[in-house]
Amino acid sequence: MQSSSVSTVWDSSVGKAAQSAKSCIRRRRYFRSRSCYFRLFIALIVAAIIVILFGICYTCSCTDISYDQALGYLKSLQTINAGGSVTYPKRILFWTNIFGEDITSKVHNFYDCPENKNRCVIDSNKLAILASDAIVFHSRDISNQGLADLLKISCLPDKSLRNPDQIYVYYTMESPSNSGYPSTPANFFNWTMTFVAESDIQTRYGPHFMKIDDAKALEFEIKDFAVDENRYLKKNSGIFWLVSNCNTDSKREKAVAELAKYIDVKIVGKCADNDVDKNLCPKSESCNDQYENYPFYIAMENSNCKDYITEKLYQRIHIPSIPIVSRRRIYENAGIPSSSFIALDDFSGPKELAEYLKILQTNITAYKHHMEWRKKWTIAPLGAAGLQSEMYGMCQLCDRLWESSKTHKSIDDINSHYEKLAACENGDAFLRKWIPE
Ligand SMILES: *[C@@H]1O[C@H](CO)[C@@H](O)[C@H](O)[C@H]1NC(C)=O
Ligand SMILES: *[C@@H]1O[C@H](CO)[C@@H](O)[C@H](O)[C@H]1NC(C)=O
Repeated sequence: MQSSSVSTVWDSSVGKAAQSAKSCIRRRRYFRSRSCYFRLFIALIVAAIIVILFGICYTCSCTDISYDQALGYLKSLQTINAGGSVTYPKRILFWTNIFGEDITSKVHNFYDCPENKNRCVIDSNKLAILASDAIVFHSRDISNQGLADLLKISCLPDKSLRNPDQIYVYYTMESPSNSGYPSTPANFFNWTMTFVAESDIQTRYGPHFMKIDDAKALEFEIKDFAVDENRYLKKNSGIFWLVSNCNTDSKREKAVAELAKYIDVKIVGKCADNDVDKNLCPKSESCNDQYENYPFYIAMENSNCKDYITEKLYQRIHIPSIPIVSRRRIYENAGIPSSSFIALDDFSGPKELAEYLKILQTNITAYKHHMEWRKKWTIAPLGAAGLQSEMYGMCQLCDRLWESSKTHKSIDDINSHYEKLAACENGDAFLRKWIPE
């Protein structure tokens, strides 16, 4: 909203109402009359509406950029570049924030692919829209949280600011049900950038695992996961769970509650039942020591979707404790060493799983079986071709923008497209079968 139009509205409506309200107050004898109160009431309502409109514009920062302004910016870039280097960098514009924050603080600047620093520019200046090769929209920020979300207002660029060679990218690192189902016109997006391998650009939460022998054949630097075997001996028994989302799609909390009937479960974080455990692992700390103190930890995701494996697993896998996940095939399909984790569906129910865990925590020979992989597996190095690591999306996006022949395509309905891609299990369908009545 432009300030001129706001002030006009303000002058004509609020101004008038306020004036008459003022005269009400001046003319004291009318002060108690109904019509004065009514006018005062109207003035307040109008003021409130204007404040709300401001609020909406502020929360979604729908900037009105005119074609001329954007063209002016494009030209200014061209003159700067013309005198200097031979090639222009490709420009990646983040039209939205990421969870309300400007990308400059969140999205890495080609750490995994330093060579791309000269080939692509990432920014969030909306004036650069005509000058940009890719425009990225973070799903959850398309309609922002708060008022704009409530009123289903999305702040998409005007059609006049789009040219057919530009790529509109749908970006999310969350499962479909946690990505906000934004409302966008049909065929708005050209590419997807998500954790699913079949996305146009995959941006994983973690590295690719590979056998050490294969990595040696490719002359990769080898880092194995081996640790001193003393670290297999645990201070505590049972399962450790650091958790902040207490009510999830996958209903993992139900599975844990069932396990807790048969084996110790230490719940820490927001969902703990006492203040000490609630504050045991503050956000600023890794809490790795706590994880290491227990033979098992819960690494189940909030949704069971294809390739949806987050830092819950990747960030702890170096710790000699065994992660418990939900569905084995999701992890095996993504190349996670199969003996490195235990899945709920390895067992017919919670009791059977708990019994196996109790054997493991008393029999170190059996426990070690789940640690053997540490000597045989490594991870692909940053940026290895075809094996790109965590958060590699930006690097790949940059590379793809430089590919000369791009076939034009667009995605009809992004929400149903992404649901198909991620192929999530329907809520707690699995657990309802797994947990006995
Ligand atoms: C411990 O586990 C190993 C390997 O699974 C097994 O061979 C052995 O019999 C077990 N020891 C005991 C005391 O149960
Ligand atoms: C991107 O999508 C738009 C809108 O559907 C389409 O006109 C354009 O050709 C597409 N561009 C590319 C490069 O795929």
